[in-house]
Amino acid sequence: MMRVSLTVNGRKHDVDDIWEVESLLYVLRERIGMPGSKNACEQGECGSCTVYLDAVPVCACLVAAGQAQNREVVTVEGLDDEDGLCPMQQAFVDAGAVQCGFCTPGLLVQANDLLQYNPEPSDGDIREALAGNLCRCTGYGKILEAVRLAAARTSNASGAMK
Ligand code: FES
Ligand code: FES
Repeated sequence: MMRVSLTVNGRKHDVDDIWEVESLLYVLRERIGMPGSKNACEQGECGSCTVYLDAVPVCACLVAAGQAQNREVVTVEGLDDEDGLCPMQQAFVDAGAVQCGFCTPGLLVQANDLLQYNPEPSDGDIREALAGNLCRCTGYGKILEAVRLAAARTSNASGAMK
């Protein structure tokens, strides 16, 4: 058993009695009470547990809790901005890209990351960036549409600010 100290969505947590084999995903969901990141496969196959670890998207089910010691985690809950949903979340709602919603938190983190380094992605860029995030419901068309919509809105907004 060990203690792990980590920051989640800007807030410091000291979590005691963690088992050596525990995953970051388990800590987030079961110990810190942040169920946004989903546990679908627990094997690194589906991407529904994707979170930022020190600003890099990772599958939280594959990260040992101890590896998060003194590091910064941002989950889907941390993507919201002060006014409510972030542009990517809003675009998923508006495009109808959420059905059962199991894949959605991981997709949001991964798609958000794509726009941070590639604000105007091609469809090929989007498909490549989201290749590790599986969805059983939507057929991916509406997810693609949502990411295009978020990209258009954010590039229009930053254009308007210039
Ligand atoms: S639950 Fe982590 S990749 Fe599927
Ligand atoms: S919306 Fe159900 S798995 Fe994607």
